[in-house]
Amino acid sequence: MLRQVLSTVAESRRLERLVSTMPVSSSIVARYVAGETPDEAVQASRQLVDADLRVSLDHLGEHTGDRRQAETITQAYVTVVDRLRRAGLTWATEVSVKASAVGQTLGADGEKIAVDNVREICQAARQAKTTVTLDMEDHSTVDSTLSILRTVREDFPETGAVVQAYLYRSESDCHDLAYEGSRVRLCKGAYSEPESVAYRRHADVDRAYVRCLKILLAGPGYPMVATHDRRLVEIAGALATRYGRTAGTYEYQMLYGMRPAEQRRLASMGETVRVYVPYGSQWYPYLMRRLAERPANLGLFLRSLVTRS
Ligand code: FDA
Repeated sequence: MLRQVLSTVAESRRLERLVSTMPVSSSIVARYVAGETPDEAVQASRQLVDADLRVSLDHLGEHTGDRRQAETITQAYVTVVDRLRRAGLTWATEVSVKASAVGQTLGADGEKIAVDNVREICQAARQAKTTVTLDMEDHSTVDSTLSILRTVREDFPETGAVVQAYLYRSESDCHDLAYEGSRVRLCKGAYSEPESVAYRRHADVDRAYVRCLKILLAGPGYPMVATHDRRLVEIAGALATRYGRTAGTYEYQMLYGMRPAEQRRLASMGETVRVYVPYGSQWYPYLMRRLAERPANLGLFLRSLVTRS
């Protein structure tokens, strides 16, 4: 229910304009977003890498409305990859890209535009000796995003995929994606989806997550276990042992600002842990999704809105 309300709020342009005038340093925004500039993104990456963590940087933005904007976001990725290279961080830092940010939704040519732009980012990433992961968005885009991924993987097989456990189709997608060299991030799914396509009860999503996890961990690919859920992290560890996986043949992933102590605890045990770090001025939809997952933060957020100077 709350997730639905916040999803609606996330689409309100008026509220977005109001909220987006808050400085990014406002504490609730700063908790989840590393800053607005590439310099701030690189600085946050350095701090995490120094703490023995890996990073995936996300230049915030989605549902780009025209070709020029898609090109601007593509160049922002190329620039930040180059900054990371010059900072000596690309061995531990990759980037995450939303297909809708780089053109996917631009009409009949959208998919092709997105393929070209993602390829350009992959090329820059490869030159810098790092990788790209293609985020997954709402269910109506999944087929298109997987098609973009397949095309891009022809030349850049190192490109990561994302599967959202809450979708009924995801076990089948996991089977398709669990092959040698295939990097697959498994998350629960962050969008408000209808019952016709997705599990809506927490317990059902968790069970689906475990089924997907088994497929990925049993296969020859490289699973990326993206969750903050204590039980699922424990189950992933137990399954990794059961399937004879050693540290480094899979990784945990968590979002910037979420369970930082757990991120460090896992890393100190020799696990690979990657933190997804969003940065940029278009943080509003991302922040709304995080608030929908954590109603306890909503009060804090509303107070910071009312008291903003
Ligand atoms: P769940 O939401 O059940 O939370 C488990 C526990 O985590 C909570 O009990 C709490 O302790 C803690 N927690 C959860 N949310 C919190 C918050 N906002 N603040 C503080 N603590 C919180 N989704 C998607 O649709 N497409 C994508 O491409 C990605 N990519 C992605 C990358 C990475 C690295 C992660 C970790 C997640 C994503 N997601 C995503 C988001 C994902 O689908 C999901 O919405 C969130 O991770 C929350 O689900 P959890 O698995 O953490 O469980």
